[in-house]
Amino acid sequence: MEELTVVVLAAGQGTRMRSRRPKVLHPLADRPLLAHVLDTAERLQPQRLAVVYGHGGDQVREAFADRPGITWVHQAEQLGTGHAVAQALTSLEPKGTVLVLYGDVPLLREETLRELLAARAEAELVLLTARIDDPRGYGRILRDEAGRVQGIVEEKDASEAQRLIDEVNTGVLAAGAEALARWVNALERSNAQGEYYLTDVVALAVAEGLAVATRHPREADEFLGVNDRVQLAHLERRYQRRQAQDLMQLGVTLRDPARLDVRGRVEAGRDVVIDVDVILEGEVVLGDGVEIGPFCHLKDVRLGPGCKVLSHSVLEGVEAGEEVSIGPFARLRPGTNLAARAKVGNFVEIKNAQVGEGSKINHLSYVGDAEVGREVNIGAGTITCNYDGANKHRTIIEDRAFIGSDSQLVAPVRIGEGATIGAGSTITRDAPPHALTLSRVPQKTREGWQRPVKRKKGGS
Ligand code: UD1
Ligand code: CA
Repeated sequence: MEELTVVVLAAGQGTRMRSRRPKVLHPLADRPLLAHVLDTAERLQPQRLAVVYGHGGDQVREAFADRPGITWVHQAEQLGTGHAVAQALTSLEPKGTVLVLYGDVPLLREETLRELLAARAEAELVLLTARIDDPRGYGRILRDEAGRVQGIVEEKDASEAQRLIDEVNTGVLAAGAEALARWVNALERSNAQGEYYLTDVVALAVAEGLAVATRHPREADEFLGVNDRVQLAHLERRYQRRQAQDLMQLGVTLRDPARLDVRGRVEAGRDVVIDVDVILEGEVVLGDGVEIGPFCHLKDVRLGPGCKVLSHSVLEGVEAGEEVSIGPFARLRPGTNLAARAKVGNFVEIKNAQVGEGSKINHLSYVGDAEVGREVNIGAGTITCNYDGANKHRTIIEDRAFIGSDSQLVAPVRIGEGATIGAGSTITRDAPPHALTLSRVPQKTREGWQRPVKRKKGGS
C-alpha cells in the first residue's frame, strides 16, 4: 500500500470557546477533542502523523507528551488552512497520500476516511463533501454542468447565487503528496479574509487537468466541528448516542439510550440491562446478564456475570465475581474486591478490601483496609476503625465470622474463624475463633424509676 501521512490542523485559536484552554483540549466524553481525532487517524495506520499547532501550543504538546509517534509542526501565525498544510509538508516531505483532518472535528468515522483514501485510486485529489440543509458558514462546492468539481468558494467570497449551493466542503481531503505540496506553495491570499485557503488547491488541480473526486460521510453530522460550547455539548450528545447504539448492537438493553453516558471504554456481555441515568467511566467490563440500576456511576469496574448493582450506587476501582449484589446506595472505592455471591447493601462504604464468597455487609457499614473471609456476616453499623490519624491499619475477619450490629473493629485486629462479636462491641484486641467476644457495659434496670414530668403553666 501507498505511504500515508495524516496532517491534523489544530492551530486555530478557538476564540468563541471563551476559555483559557486551547480548543482542541476541551473534552468530549472526558478526553480532549484532539485525542479523538488522533485515535481515528491512528486506526488508519499512517506512516506519519503530524499535528499543526499554534495557540496554547505548549499546553497542547504537554497534554499529549506520553503519546508517541506524533510529529509536532508549529504554525506561529495562523495565516490560513493552506498555510498550515504548507508548513507541515515542508517539514515532512511526504510521499504517497496526505490526508488532512481538523483537530476540532472529533466524530469522523474510520470507514468514511477509508472510503476517501480508496478514492485516491481514481483521483489526485479527493474531497469529503456533504449536502446539508443549512450550508451557512461552509465553503461551497462548485461543479460544472457535467457535475465535475471546479473549485470551492468560501462563504465570505461567495456570490448570492453560490451561497444557494447546498453541497459543502467538510474540510477533510486526501491528495497526492507531491501534488499537494506543489499546490499549497502556489496559494495566494487575495480573498475576503486575506488567508491562504487550502480550498484553493481544488482550482489548481482542475487547472492542471487532474481529476478531483468527492466522497460523502455516512452520517450527516460526522464532520461537525466545535467552535463554541453549544456545539461541544451537541457533539457530546451525538457521541453518546453512538456509544449507546454500539452497546445495543452488542446485546445490551438500555432502558433509555439517551440517558446513558459512556466516558471511556465499555465491554459488555449478553443480556446486560442498564437502567436510566447511568455514567460509565474509564474501563468498564460487564459480564453476561449484569443489571445496573438507575442513577449509578461506575468508573474502572469489572463485574462478573449476573451481578446486580441497584440504584444510586457509586463504584470506582471495583472488581466483583459472579452474582454479586451491590446497593442501593452503596459507595465502593478503589481496591474493593468482592468474591462471588457477596452482598453489599445500602449505605455501605468499602475501600481497599477483599470480601470473600457469599459474605454479607448489608447495612450502614464502613469496611476499609480489610480482608473479609467467606460467608461472613457483618451486621448493620459495623465500622472498621482503620485510621489512627497517622497510619492505616488492617482488619482481618476470618471465614464464617459474625459481627454483631453497631460494632467497631479497631485495627490492627483479627476476628478468628467462626467467631461471634456481640452487638455494640468495641473490639481492640484479636477475637479468638469459634467463641463469643463482646465488650459491653452490663445492662442495668432501676425498678420504680419515674420519668420527669412537665410542669403545668400557672400551676404551683
Ligand atoms: C474551513 C474551510 C471551509 C470548510 C470549513 C469546514 C478553508 C479556507 N475553508 O473553513 O471550506 O467548509 O473549514 O469546517 O479551508 N487552522 C490552522 N491554521 C490556520 C487556520 C486554521 O491550523 O492558520 C485549523 C483550525 O484550527 C481548524 C481548521 O484549521 O481546526 C479549520 O479552520 P477554520 O478557521 O475553522 O476554517 P473555516 O473558516 O471554518
Ligand atoms: Ca470551522
